[in-house]
Amino acid sequence: MEQLLDGLVEIYGNGAGEQMARYRSTFAGFRERYGPGPVHIFRAPGRVNLIGEHTDYNHGYVLPVALDRDVLLLARPRSDGQVRLANVEADFEARSFAVSDAIPAAPSGDWSNYARGPAQELTRLRSTGSVQVQGGPVSGIDGLVSAAPPFGVPRGAGVSSSSALTVAMAVAFAHFAGWEWEGAEMARLCSDAEWYVGTRGGIMDQFIALLAQRGHALFLDCRPDADGEFRTRPIPLPAGYRLLVMDSGVRHTNTRNEFNQRVAACRAGVALLRQSMPGITHLRDVENVEWATLESQLPEAVSVAALRAEGLELGDLPNVPDDAPLRVRACCRHVWTENRRVLDTLEALGSDDIRRVGSLLDEAHASAAEDYRISTAELDVLTVAAREVDGVAGARLTGAGWGGCVIALVPEAQVAEFTAHVGQAYTRETGREATIFPCSAGPGAGLVGVVDV
Ligand code: GLA
Repeated sequence: MEQLLDGLVEIYGNGAGEQMARYRSTFAGFRERYGPGPVHIFRAPGRVNLIGEHTDYNHGYVLPVALDRDVLLLARPRSDGQVRLANVEADFEARSFAVSDAIPAAPSGDWSNYARGPAQELTRLRSTGSVQVQGGPVSGIDGLVSAAPPFGVPRGAGVSSSSALTVAMAVAFAHFAGWEWEGAEMARLCSDAEWYVGTRGGIMDQFIALLAQRGHALFLDCRPDADGEFRTRPIPLPAGYRLLVMDSGVRHTNTRNEFNQRVAACRAGVALLRQSMPGITHLRDVENVEWATLESQLPEAVSVAALRAEGLELGDLPNVPDDAPLRVRACCRHVWTENRRVLDTLEALGSDDIRRVGSLLDEAHASAAEDYRISTAELDVLTVAAREVDGVAGARLTGAGWGGCVIALVPEAQVAEFTAHVGQAYTRETGREATIFPCSAGPGAGLVGVVDV
């Protein structure tokens, strides 16, 4: 146990003591459910994104940061190919399924889909031989998941609780199968695995969950190079500031359709631009073309049906109705400008120009709200209140949108005042309570240790 405590200090710093109590109670839960013996502990963190929203599936740039809030998975391998899962939270009922390369999905929204996806994806990779896998077949497990508040990744809050669960599961399956994978390879696998649930998300959440480094954001260029590799770079967070997370308490549910419609609008933009620029595949390809040139070729809105009539197909996109108006021009403008803002933010961070970083965050929020239309009244109230506090560099929504969290860069000396002011203003304006907490950039996912319970 002492060795475990050392490991927890590396992961959670000062929070290690409290975490030990959380870990111990999860060990007891595991023993009660599955019996005594050795058990492996895996974890994967949630994230916020400093800037670069809805750019990843357009092959753009992102700058996420891991939270020290995470998903814990205690697991023990089984020899019969069965996955039996339980959760410390009673709302998530126990589930089981058999590992195969075609695992039937549980009903939409069921938490076990985030385990079924990676189990199927790993098994397929091995059976198709599409990548060189060293190691054995994916085995079943007995698993217990712990992601309850206050240490777990908040759910539906736009901080990637689902990717954290997917990643923790994938890391466990791969570990027991004896696969030795680099973080980036595993991140790609996990993002493919998440398509299992139907949302056509990008790769940001899985990359940060796996490659995060303490105290750093991760710059990720979501366009692979010729060898299929992704460029990543750890970026130190600005000294003297805290990255504060304000959870609006508004939970996004059933936003998959809205999400996929944004993906569709971007793909529609590419399909239309390809008529004059053959060969482009993603909005990233036009990052250096003047916006005015692009704008003139992008209609304000168009439907999938109208595009199809012109012979343009958008690919596999569940739940996008044929007649839904895709706001192509505004959505593409958001992505095109957001990519520039990410690169400008990198430069401003490099020269310690925090005021500039702050203005870029503010501009990113405006673009997300007006062009991409993913903000809500509550998120807007939080950004306004955050900027009212002296010295705050900037504030913006983070994650997919439609609820969830806002982040702000706050001078260390102002944290207490900030928390009090934003909390009060939010309750006054919306009647809701915000949960405000610092993002202590933590490390990426992995095996924490093996204990006897
Ligand atoms: C979700 C997706 C990510 C990314 C963000 C928006 O979190 O999973 O891939 O697209 O939304 O930036």
